[in-house]
Amino acid sequence: MAVDSADLSRRVTGRQASVGVVGLGYVGLPLLVRAATAGHPTVGLDVDRWKLGQLRRGLSYVEDVSDAVMTALAASDDVTLTEDAVALADVDVVHICVQTPVHKATKEPNLEFLLSAMDDVALHARAGQLIIVESTTYPGATEELLCARLSDRGLVVGEDVFVAFSPERVDPANKTHDLSNTPKVVGGVTERCTDLACAYYGALVETVVPVSSTSTAEMVKLLENTFRAVNIALVNEIAQVCHALDIDVWEVIDAAATKPFGFMPHFPGAGVGGDCIPADPHYLAWKARMRGVPCRLTELAQQINRDMPEYVVQRVSDALGRPVDGASILLVGVAYKPDVQDMRESPSWEVAKRLHGRRARVAYHDPHIPEARLNGAVLKSEALSPGLLRDADCVLVLTPHGGIDYDMIQTHSRLVVDTKNVLAPGGVTEGVVRL
Ligand SMILES: NC(=O)c1ccc[n+]([C@@H]2O[C@H](COP(=O)([O-])OP(=O)(O)OC[C@H]3O[C@@H](n4cnc5c(N)ncnc54)[C@H](O)[C@@H]3O)[C@@H](O)[C@H]2O)c1
Repeated sequence: MAVDSADLSRRVTGRQASVGVVGLGYVGLPLLVRAATAGHPTVGLDVDRWKLGQLRRGLSYVEDVSDAVMTALAASDDVTLTEDAVALADVDVVHICVQTPVHKATKEPNLEFLLSAMDDVALHARAGQLIIVESTTYPGATEELLCARLSDRGLVVGEDVFVAFSPERVDPANKTHDLSNTPKVVGGVTERCTDLACAYYGALVETVVPVSSTSTAEMVKLLENTFRAVNIALVNEIAQVCHALDIDVWEVIDAAATKPFGFMPHFPGAGVGGDCIPADPHYLAWKARMRGVPCRLTELAQQINRDMPEYVVQRVSDALGRPVDGASILLVGVAYKPDVQDMRESPSWEVAKRLHGRRARVAYHDPHIPEARLNGAVLKSEALSPGLLRDADCVLVLTPHGGIDYDMIQTHSRLVVDTKNVLAPGGVTEGVVRL
């Protein structure tokens, strides 16, 4: 017998439904916090015991969740943090937020984590649940992978259980847009699934954008991130052309950005990082390939971005006027993007590895990364000082965190390679080489 979805709808709208979040990382933890602070009893599930231990002690490993907030949640009777998937059987709404990387060598989707999470969710699913996939994946995955598992359990999607995909668009360290004011795209397997998921998110976020299917919602996310990858690759290519033609790419971008329509500035750098942009376009290309549609632009963009660390190393060598072998190089900013403590797929660290691989003497300064492993050795972030800067043969600015004393860098360094145009933007300064 089909369940009464009106009752679930009332409870999600009234923020009384209990919520489970599978995967407490950069996406899942802020979501758990949002649901819990909105009043939902919540269960956070993760397979990583270290993370659970930190959270239970009120310590957050995600910039956008403070220790104070985590301490309050950890102490609340309405929040359960567990590694036991059995707890999912008691919740009304389940979110799947585990990582979806690509295999390093083939760049094909690595679905190991998603499948394992779906196995757990399906195993403990019960009639009356709303299950929402938030992990980025290929178009069709929610239906092919999750619905099939639910159906194997004898649960009819749209009647017994309700399934939707809603891409997570969180932008870590973004000061203006968070979960609550970033529109939430939602696509359900059936109309009832979409309506329920929209009712649920409508009580949590300002704007909900329903779309016609889970595949559409999955594709929305891939379009957004492929758009970024392609545009960043384009500007990285333009930067190389400008350098060859002795044109200042930064001046070109600034001037182009004065066009009031049809242009959106993107900026060159050492490549793309984090767990989304380097991976998501490959999910699109992989699925398209399986249908016989080549995604040439997408794949080429990924390649151009992957080649950027090597280009930066070459520019350092050019600036030094000799191979980097034996040169002391101080990297400024090594996280994958400004103001985060996340090193995943950091192109800046890829530059470090390549320099080190060529026997450069590498040190770094990054206020967000106290230490990092470099080809087996552990490096610690150096405190910036005039002496440290003077001692370096080259200071290489990679990830432009806020709060770094760029004036000090400009004043005391003998040579700076500035990949982000943060030193006296627009001007030509002796000893400063811009990308
Ligand atoms: N990080 C971002 O900025 C961002 C933004 C938008 C979308 N996304 C997407 O959201 C998803 C999650 O990304 P993330 O950055 O939060 O990943 P993450 O690696 O930070 O977190 C994933 C968590 O899931 C846990 N996990 C793995 N398998 C599990 C299982 N079977 N059961 C329970 N827990 C499990 C891991 O231990 C980890 O803590 C990915 O698909 C990613 O592409 C990420």
